[in-house]
Amino acid sequence: MNKPKRYTITTALPYTNGPIHIGHLAGVYVPADIYARYLRLTGNDVAFIGGSDEHGVPITIKAKNEGVSPQDVVDKYHAIIKKSFEDFGITYDNYSRTTAPIHHETASEFFKTLNEKGEFIEETTEQLYDEDANQFLADRFVTGTCPKCGNEDAYGDQCENCGTSLNATDLINPKSALTGNVPTLKQTKHWFLPLDKHESFLKEWILEGHKKDWKPNVYGQCKSWIDDGLRPRAVTRDLDWGIPVPAEGGEGKVLYVWFDAPIGYISSTKEWAAREGKDWEPYWKDKDTKLVHFIGKDNIVFHCIIFPAMLKAEGSYILPDNVPANEFLNLEGNKLSTSKNWAVWLPEYLEDFPGQQDVLRYALNANAPETKDNDFTWKDFQARNNNELVAIFGNFINRVVVLTNKYYEGIVPEPAEFNEVDEETLASVKAYPDVIASSIERYRFREAGQELMNLARLGNKYLADAEPWKVIKEDEARTKTIMYVALQIASALATLSEPFLPFTSEKLKNILNITSSVLESSWNEVSTKKVLLPAGHQIGKAELLFSKIEDDTIQKQLDKLEASKKANEAANKTVEPQKETIAFDDFTKLDIRVGTILEAEKMPKTKKLLKLKVDTGIDTRTIVSGIAESFTAEEVIGKRVTVLVNLAPRALRGVESQGMILMTETPEGKLVFVNPDDASVGNGLQIS
Ligand code: MF3
Ligand code: ZN
Repeated sequence: MNKPKRYTITTALPYTNGPIHIGHLAGVYVPADIYARYLRLTGNDVAFIGGSDEHGVPITIKAKNEGVSPQDVVDKYHAIIKKSFEDFGITYDNYSRTTAPIHHETASEFFKTLNEKGEFIEETTEQLYDEDANQFLADRFVTGTCPKCGNEDAYGDQCENCGTSLNATDLINPKSALTGNVPTLKQTKHWFLPLDKHESFLKEWILEGHKKDWKPNVYGQCKSWIDDGLRPRAVTRDLDWGIPVPAEGGEGKVLYVWFDAPIGYISSTKEWAAREGKDWEPYWKDKDTKLVHFIGKDNIVFHCIIFPAMLKAEGSYILPDNVPANEFLNLEGNKLSTSKNWAVWLPEYLEDFPGQQDVLRYALNANAPETKDNDFTWKDFQARNNNELVAIFGNFINRVVVLTNKYYEGIVPEPAEFNEVDEETLASVKAYPDVIASSIERYRFREAGQELMNLARLGNKYLADAEPWKVIKEDEARTKTIMYVALQIASALATLSEPFLPFTSEKLKNILNITSSVLESSWNEVSTKKVLLPAGHQIGKAELLFSKIEDDTIQKQLDKLEASKKANEAANKTVEPQKETIAFDDFTKLDIRVGTILEAEKMPKTKKLLKLKVDTGIDTRTIVSGIAESFTAEEVIGKRVTVLVNLAPRALRGVESQGMILMTETPEGKLVFVNPDDASVGNGLQIS
């Protein structure tokens, strides 16, 4: 597209069933905010749009579990989420919510327009139903096996493992999330969006039009769905939480959350425009507007296939120019999860690390899951802070400011002759705005952030090589030149760091006295202006931009994770339902005896397996047991255990295992032996 007249930037509307965590931030909100800030700095017209996604099944489930109304749940989390975004420096032009009246109107109108244009199919079909809960089962009310990838925990509308969008009736072995029941089928009427009808448009638009500029992961997912063949998708549900279906026969039904939520971007834009006295329509309807959706990978199908099909069917809207979806961020090796409380929550971070928003922004961006899933670790967070922000960026700035104050009372000195290194250094500083911009415009935010750090490295190296603290003793004129050059780098850093480290940038601008009343700074001028900080300009006193994070601070966070894991495990401990009844004869076939472990060793290259020698009273045999995560080899030697001795032998990692040890679990999931300490070896287990 030619240079856009304006930008509409949207971020996935988070579900209001929990606070924001680092996975959301790294995948969506940090890159989007970098992008929006960069565009504003370079003089573009930007609408940066967000809001809360307040409908949908996860919220009704949460409300039910807590015995409160869905409205209570969304009010609570909308407030928490909105405030934490503000405190974290996400610069939304508007942050709305899908329970807002303007959204209900907008989504209703959108539905009506499509309905009147004949863009839906109305059909009565058989849908999954839970007889005990008296409820139709769609979306997250039902789980089952994904027909595409075999994931056993797929939801009724989507498999989060392979990203495929599903109809609930596609699931193999569906199970109600409410009662665990196997659903029955019951007839009900719904409105379907015939995606198949839009197939040729989607093929042309995505497969031909965006092969080059969309990220491979996004393009690849779209291609696979389109190649598989698109089918009609229900856009209404039999639920009472949501936007009522505005059509005859729609009583008791609501719009599917994924139908209404993306329209939330439009409603939020309207709300903003009304407040600012602007016209919202060009932001959504003028073909010179660049529309970009920031999302996580589980949202790709909705933003690349379904929402565009809706916009196209409506007829008056533009389509996204790009959907730079990210992969997932894990935490300390495990998948982030709201329900499992495995996360670093933004409100808690803000409380534990006051004034340190930029550290998290930097660490998340440096390790963003742009091309593959990545892992967040507290150790990496600490290293990014101590080795990069403190040791490179902060150290450079501190030296420049302290020395300028010490030598020149904070006044930028008049330079003498520039030598070759000075000239080269000043020239490379001028190249940075374009280098960083080019990465940002290609949605490579990690690379852009590293380029920024390279500029700080350049400054650090320049000073370390030039050694003004030595030169000052013999050559005052040369020292002035060195400090002058270093101050230009510091000024460039103050401007170019804004999208990535906005709090630091502001602090630094204050220190360098680059405030609009004294000295303007702009992104492009870092390249075009001859001098950024002119000789004679007065700067302020040094202030620490970053401080070292100690091991005990990191350990506290690790302890917190460990504690939440334990608490969660204990709370979620579910008792397995009883297995099918067996005949008495089946039981007596089992030969279970007490044995003693004589020897034990860890099986090489395995995490779980111990190789045991067990005295069963009948013989001494080898048993390979999956208990190594709960016991060391030394611990189990000499222990009495119950053994199933007549199990058919089988090979585990090349070792034949001749039986099995009976174990049970503590609430924390640690394995323990069924205690046979009082019995004598060789005795069978009896029922009496
Ligand atoms: N609430 C959804 C999620 O968290 C995202 C909604 S994005 C929107 O996965 F387009 F629907 F708004
Ligand atoms: Zn799947």
